[in-house]
This record gives sequence, C-alpha cells and structure tokens, in this order.
Amino acid sequence: MCGIVGYIGSKEAYPILIKALKRLEYRGYDSAGIALINDSNELNIYKTKGKVADLEHAVEGKNVAGRIGIAHTRWATHGEPNQINAHPHFSESGNLALIHNGIIENYATIKKNLQQEGYTFKSSTDTEVLVQLIEYIQLSHDLDLLSAVQLALHQVIGAYAIAILDKRHPDTIIAARQSSPLAIGVCDDGSFVLASDASPIVEHTNRIVYLGDGEIALLKKGSPLQIVTQDNVEVTPKISTTTLNIGQLEKGGFPHFMLKEIFEQADCIRDCMRGRINVEGNTVSLSAVIDHKERLLNARRFVIVACGTSWHAALIGKHLIEHFFHLPVEVEYASEFRYRNPVIDDKDVVIAISQSGETADTLAAVKEAKKKGAFVYGICNSIGSSIARATDTGSYIHVGPEIGVASTKAFTGQVTVLTLLALALAKEKNCISPEEFTETIRELNEIPDKMKRVVELNDTIAQFSKTFTYAHNFIYLGRGYNFPVALEGALKLKEISYIHAEGYPAAEMKHGPIALIDAEMPVVVVATHNAQYEKIISNIQEIKARHGKVVALVDEGDVEIKKIADFCIELPHTLPCLEPLITTIPLQLLAYHVAVSKGKDVDQPRNLAKSVTVE
Ligand code: G6P
Repeated sequence: MCGIVGYIGSKEAYPILIKALKRLEYRGYDSAGIALINDSNELNIYKTKGKVADLEHAVEGKNVAGRIGIAHTRWATHGEPNQINAHPHFSESGNLALIHNGIIENYATIKKNLQQEGYTFKSSTDTEVLVQLIEYIQLSHDLDLLSAVQLALHQVIGAYAIAILDKRHPDTIIAARQSSPLAIGVCDDGSFVLASDASPIVEHTNRIVYLGDGEIALLKKGSPLQIVTQDNVEVTPKISTTTLNIGQLEKGGFPHFMLKEIFEQADCIRDCMRGRINVEGNTVSLSAVIDHKERLLNARRFVIVACGTSWHAALIGKHLIEHFFHLPVEVEYASEFRYRNPVIDDKDVVIAISQSGETADTLAAVKEAKKKGAFVYGICNSIGSSIARATDTGSYIHVGPEIGVASTKAFTGQVTVLTLLALALAKEKNCISPEEFTETIRELNEIPDKMKRVVELNDTIAQFSKTFTYAHNFIYLGRGYNFPVALEGALKLKEISYIHAEGYPAAEMKHGPIALIDAEMPVVVVATHNAQYEKIISNIQEIKARHGKVVALVDEGDVEIKKIADFCIELPHTLPCLEPLITTIPLQLLAYHVAVSKGKDVDQPRNLAKSVTVE
C-alpha cells in the first residue's frame, strides 16, 4: 500500500521520479505527489487526487526543476483520497517534506501533544503528524535532521518506510524503515534511487541495498551510502545484485499486465520447476527440504498462513501435503492467526505464503509463529522481501514480477511449489509409492505445455464472456482440489469486474446457494472427470432445472456435460492433484474478459492494492 520513491544525483529528478511512481502504481493509485528542491534551494511540492498521469497533467507548465526529489503514490488509510491528504506532507515551517508508506498507529496522541504546542494540521493523515514531530524535535532540541529523525522514530508506534527532504540541506535525503519495504539503488555515477521495491531502480542500477527494520539511510550526492540505527550505531550497507530486468516490467504487447501474466504462466511454471524436478533422474529437490530435512520430517503438523489469493493456494497445499506426505495441515488467514493466540509450539512447522512477501498480516503471523517456537517456511515471489527474510527457510516461486493487482501467475507458482514440497517430503518420508511419484512428476513436467493449450482458448472465452456483462452475481462450484479453484475464480471476478461472486464446494449448493439460482444467475462449474463427475452432472441438472446459466470446465472430448451446459470450456486432462494448475486459467480469463467488456480498469481495480502493508 502506497509506493514511495526518491532520487538524488546529477540528473533531473522529475522524469526519473514520475517513471518510478508509474512502476509502483500497483501499490496504490488514489492520489500522487512529488517534492523537488531546485538549484535555488526552493522546495516545490505538487499533489493531486488520482493517478500518476493526473499528477503529470497537474504539473504541466510548473517548475519541476531539481536534481533531488521524493514522490508518492497513495492507497488511503487515514484520510480520504484528495489533494490535501496526498503526500508529500510538509512541516509547519515548510522546510521539511516527507513521504510515507505504512501507518503511524499512535498518531492521534502525538498530534494532540503537538496541537498543544501550537502546531496546526492541514490534512487528516498520520503522515503529517510525523513530519511535524520531526520538526518539533529538531527545533526544540536544536538538532540536526538525522538526530531529530532518530528521536522522533523512537516515539512512533507503527509501520513505515519514509523519505525526507530538508530544503536547507539540498544535498541529502534521509530514509528510514520499520516493517514497510524500502530498497536503495546505488548507482555508478554516485546518485541514489530509493523505492518501495526494486522495480523502479533496475533501469538505473542492479546494485540494491534493502534497508533493515530500525535502520536509517543518509543518501548524499557523491558520498557512499551511510546507514545508522535509531540509536546511531553504524551499519555496513549490504549491496545485493538484482537479476530483475526491464522487459519483465513492461506489458510486452498485451493490453494489460493481467493478460500478459495469465499468458506467461506456462513459462513461469517452467522457471519455477527448473532445477527442482528431474524427470529422467526421477527426483524432486528443494534446497529448503535438503537443508532442513529432519525439522520438516519430524513436524507434528503444518499450519499454512496467508491472505487473499495466497490463502486459496494454501487450501490446495493442504490437500497436496495431506495426500502425499500424510501429515495434518491447517490453513489459516494470517490476520486471524496472529490475533487469536494460536496453539503453536516448536513441534509445528508454519508455512507462510505471500506473493509480495510484504503483506503485513502474514509478516506478523510469521513473527508470532517464531515467537512461539515454530519453524517457519516461506513461499514468496519477491526476492529479499520482508517475509522471505523473516522466515527460517523457504522456496521462492520464481515467476517474475507480478504487476496486475489481481494475482494470477503467482497463484499457479505457489501451487507448483506446494506440489514440489509435498512430493519432496513424501519421498524423504518414504510414504509415496514409486509409481505414484514417477507418474506425478512426469505429469507435472507436462503441465506447462498443457497451460499453453489452455490460453489458446482465450478468444473463445472472450467471446462468451460478453454475455455476462449484465450479471450482478455469479456462483462458482468445484470439489476436492477444485474447491479452492472455485474460490479463486470468484475472487478474480469480484476484484476486477466488481460483480458479486461466491465460491462453494459443489455439494454444498443444496444447503443454501441453490435458493439464489434463477435465469439471471451464471454458475461456473469445474466439472472435469476427476471431480466426482457423476455427482457434478447432477448438480448441473439441478441448476438447469432452475434456469441458471452454466459455464462448465470439462475434459477435452466430454460428451455428457456438453449436452446440458450453456458454455463448455474443454481442458487437457491431468491428474486430480495437478488440476488447479489447469482449471484456474480459464477462470482468470473469464474474469478478465468480463471486466474488460464492462470497461473496468483491470490492472488497477478500485479500492485494491497489490501489496497490503497495513493491518
Ligand atoms: C492483496 C492482493 C491480492 C493478494 C493478497 C495477498 O489483497 O490484492 O491479490 O492475494 O493481497 O498478497 P500476498 O502478496 O501476501 O500474496
């Protein structure tokens, strides 16, 4: 939630910052702003409601000169999205400008104290309180900015990644982090680019320092990067080299990132499996399983924590791990887990699944699990993210940056890693027959080719999706491995088309949802041969008897369901445990095309953000 960027160097900052903000718009896009200090030491701040493109329009003809600046794209928490609440916020004197991603939880108390000291506030944000607090401390104790920031952050409770400009010191940006991500690009020409993630940095440098919790960075033009803690202890910056490239961050000829990401799933899944499955050698290897074999094999149970789409992948993970590894698995919403004092101890293994690796609730659940002694395994996409670093071990899904707000390829990547994990553990425990092991990895190896065949159905799905733009509700049904697929299909539709949708296990329909079915109700049914086929046919008959419209996902060559369903999507056959990797894709395409035909902003749906770093 919220993207922050900063630049200091020898080039004009404005174009760099605007481009950087556009890369981070997936984090929030309800308002945007920029602050620049020009060569006459004037601090110019421009803000607007709306997207980064609106900010560009708003500054047309204005003075945007300067080789130092900070900028922000917002997802509102405190205070509605409008120009006043947009960042940067500035201090009473107008000397300091600050951008912030996160939440200052004790802002109300600090604000009250400052008001008693005569400070006035223009916005209703928690961020303005922080910049005012820093200035108050600076003036009342006659301190330099760094010392004032250190003292102020000691008073603050909450999560933040911040960057501050002081117009009296136009050669420095101060940045700090606690629980919200912050990356600093160290460029060869002595300039620095800071951002909420590496995506805006890679076109300037591949040398990146990920700031740690409680650390404060001083970015001074031409000087080496300096990092200190809140208690002023020097920290040696650890520079890592990112392999992210610009091509991965562009749309590559697709109209939306979401469609590009749906289409590239076959390649992503290949990347995810590369070096991990060896069909000839009949092996599956995950380094985390090799390194922590005893700990994982001796677990009493696994508990998987996640949010959103990652939680749906977790539900599939439960099926996979229980089926292959014969260990009980519980799946929890990270937000519930962390607040209910869960019974967890050192015999448990907690698996945290997160595409971004920054979801605040999942990160807090990881910390809670570690506090209680559990061994924590992360399944993340973003390399070096907070969750990846906070866990004891883990496996990246390696599907490349996911930019569309609605998650697609990360889901199939997560399911793939969970499959590999279940198989690797089962093999180690000797609880899978050689035949089943071999058959499963052979079939897993075929999945990318089958995924390619599924995306070829794009035009057909686009065609019939148009008939559903009228719909106000949808039901999705699936059984077994495909029940979480039904939930995920419904979530995709809700997220981007704003049509209400619910996913159910198919057999549950008769316990309530059937009352909703009439001629206006589209019902999407995962009806492959693995999924209790005969029973599903009965469910479809029940829907048709009530005049519902049925979209059925069936195996190639299906005869029975074709006779009764309104639309059939024929899919390549696979093993039951691998079906979600196939059946999810048409549901992603369905949601995409319904949203497009309704004219919705597919990549940036209203009210959502890709990385939810607030609790
Ligand atoms: C947000 C996103 C979802 C995502 C969820 C969990 O709600 O819009 O697409 O599934 O966060 O994110 P994570 O990065 O932890 O997988």
